[in-house]
Amino acid sequence: MITIAEGARTHRIDRRIYGQFAEHLGRCVYEGLWVGEDSPIANRHGIRSDVVAALRAIKVPLVRWPGGCFADEYHWQRGIGPEAERSTSINTHWGGVVETNAFGTHEYFELLHQLDAEAYISGNVGSGTVAEMRDWVEYITLDGTSPMADLRKRHGREQPWRLPFFGVGNESWGCGGHMTPLHYANHYRQYQTYVRRYGELPIYKIACGPNDDDYEWTEVLMSTAARFMDGLSLHYYTLPSGNWDAKGSATDFGDDEWHATIARTRKMATLLERHSAIMDKHDPDKRVGLIVDEWGTWYDPTPGTNPGFLEQQNTIRDAVVAALNFNMFHRHAGRVRMTNIAQMVNVLQAMLLTDGPRLVRTPTYWAFDLYTDHHDAWFVDARPAPGDAPGRIGTHGEYTVSWRDDAYTISVTNAGLDGDVKADVELPQRVTTVHRARILSADSATSHNTFDAPDTVRPVDLDGYQIEGSRLRFTVPARSIVTVRVG
Ligand code: AHR
Repeated sequence: MITIAEGARTHRIDRRIYGQFAEHLGRCVYEGLWVGEDSPIANRHGIRSDVVAALRAIKVPLVRWPGGCFADEYHWQRGIGPEAERSTSINTHWGGVVETNAFGTHEYFELLHQLDAEAYISGNVGSGTVAEMRDWVEYITLDGTSPMADLRKRHGREQPWRLPFFGVGNESWGCGGHMTPLHYANHYRQYQTYVRRYGELPIYKIACGPNDDDYEWTEVLMSTAARFMDGLSLHYYTLPSGNWDAKGSATDFGDDEWHATIARTRKMATLLERHSAIMDKHDPDKRVGLIVDEWGTWYDPTPGTNPGFLEQQNTIRDAVVAALNFNMFHRHAGRVRMTNIAQMVNVLQAMLLTDGPRLVRTPTYWAFDLYTDHHDAWFVDARPAPGDAPGRIGTHGEYTVSWRDDAYTISVTNAGLDGDVKADVELPQRVTTVHRARILSADSATSHNTFDAPDTVRPVDLDGYQIEGSRLRFTVPARSIVTVRVG
């Protein structure tokens, strides 16, 4: 039995843990988000209305943009002004295609406005100058008169925008410049100096953090530059095989690959623990956030697509991976303040897939949907049954509990392929109301949604839960996620 004790609330689960990432990569920005005002696809100011409606429904709190690797080759001045006058460039990282720059700073903030989401911009350290980064921040945030504020106004935007989060470089250990940790740490100190706060609102500065288990990177960054940063990023992708040359298929896999994927995604817990422990040494008050600004599954690309576009299908396995990561982020939310799944539309572990005017919600989308009640809630450290580790029910079951607005939200995932997980929860009070009881399940491990069958994997109401006083019981079948919210 899982026991929820009164007062077992330990820390807040920042809604930004449910953040998204949209890069100029393949069909994420172009086609996925931006179709242009003249498109026959319904749009508002060039942004797809169906995509906005779907993303608003899962309460997207913020969107990281413009990359990724793209960020360290992005020159923002090419993406402002009348569209016809914008110069083009080549997207060297992702397929070598022409970047039209039709989607730039103004379009990004229009997207955020439509989504009611916050900004998280990644600045260019790899191939950009300090002055270029400084000018972008001035262009976006300075009220009043200055060369950059005047330029913004000439392009039709009188008021500055809010820029709560700014990343100084991306993967500076790799595509962002192949720097050593000390080289980057010194660059970070220099560049961040000119990420100036012009308005009342502070800008939360995020330094490029480690890849996977590169603990030395974290150590050097924290010892050299912690006092200049608000957040340190972490990137970790789940590959079924663990091999970048042959990652594994998104839809054609057997039981072994399922279990390997689940085991590899659980490595996130070790990464959070060990990077946090290093951060604790330098920052015992947990002022600096650990920002997991790229995570998710990465498979071999969908056959027949441009391999540089990183397109992949998304099955119930991806939904389970998402839920397990949410659970780990919740537990570590005292340090983990934001995460950004890669990526929002049409790329890697996407929420949405598009094909011309058609749109499909993936199983991962529905996992995000099932967890919206955890946004900004208090993490509740519910006690597991004797013999189980915290957060676990037997071998394949996992739970996470939060509290908000006088109600508890309990999510339980069965990451196994056979057998039920029995959830048996003791609450600190009598259950009087069931606000929500939903289940996301699938007929097989490879079940997914297609444009012709968009609702194959979709949550439905959970039948058969039992309440007796303060006791709640329900069953979670293999490869399923259940969320029950009770007051
Ligand atoms: O998300 C795809 C790519 O993965 C990003 O551009 C890069 O930062 C990472 O290597």
